[in-house]
Amino acid sequence: MRIAAIVPAAGLGVRLGPGTAKALRDVAGTPLLVHAVRGLWSTSLVEAVVVAAPPQRTGEFEDVLARGVPDARVHVVGGGVTRQRSVAAGLEAVDSLGPVDAVLVHDAARAFVPVAVVERVVAGLRAGSAAVVPVLPVADTIKRVADEDVVTGTVDRSTLYAVQTPQGFRLDVLRCAYAETAVEATDDSALVEALGVPVTVVEGSEEAFKVTRPLDLLLAEALLERR
Ligand code: C5P
Repeated sequence: MRIAAIVPAAGLGVRLGPGTAKALRDVAGTPLLVHAVRGLWSTSLVEAVVVAAPPQRTGEFEDVLARGVPDARVHVVGGGVTRQRSVAAGLEAVDSLGPVDAVLVHDAARAFVPVAVVERVVAGLRAGSAAVVPVLPVADTIKRVADEDVVTGTVDRSTLYAVQTPQGFRLDVLRCAYAETAVEATDDSALVEALGVPVTVVEGSEEAFKVTRPLDLLLAEALLERR
C-alpha cells in the first residue's frame, strides 16, 4: 500500500500568543513543523509528505524543511484560510505524486505523535478500513451550557472520545468526501462520516497532544527532554 502524508501547517497559532507562524515556533531548538515531519518520516510508512504552508510563506517553509528534513519527497504547497482548505490544497498536490492508495492527514501541531500511533492507523488501513482515526477517552466531565451561562445538561462521558491525528484514509474515499462536502469541519473524518463510510478508531496517545496554548510548549519541551 502506497501512503502519502498531508500535513496542514498553515495556521497562524493565535492562541499560542505573539510570534511567528505556529509551525515555525521552536521547541528544543527545532521548529514544530520539523518535529512533525521527522516523526512521520522516521516511521518509513509514508512515501511522500505534502506540507500546506501559509500561502505567503511557502519559500520560508521550504527552506526550513530543506534544512530539517532534507528529502525531495517532502513538498510544500500554499494552504488555505481554513484547515479544511489547507488539506484540500494538499490533496490536489497528492495527484502529482504518482500512484497513491491512502493518505495520512496529520496536524503539524501534533508534532510529537509516537510511532506506535502512526503504525496503528496504517495497520487499520492495511486491514481494509477506509478511514482510521486515533482517539482517547475524554477525561473531563462534559457539560452543555446555554447562552446565559447556565448548565443545561451533562453528557454521558462513557461514549465520548477526543480525536487526534494522523487520520488515515483510502485516497478515493477522502477525495470523494472533499468533493461532496458543503460544510466546514474541524477534522477530515467528519467529512467521511457524512458520506456514510464507517470510520474505525484505534488507540491514540497523550503524547499526540495538539500544541495550541503556551502551556503546550512547556509540555513539549519536557516531553522531548524525557525522550
Ligand atoms: O487551528 P487548529 O489548531 O485546529 O489547527 C490544526 C492544524 O491545522 C494546525 O497544524 C494548523 O497549522 C493547521 N491549519 C492549516 N490551515 C489553516 C488553519 C489551520 O493548515 N488555515
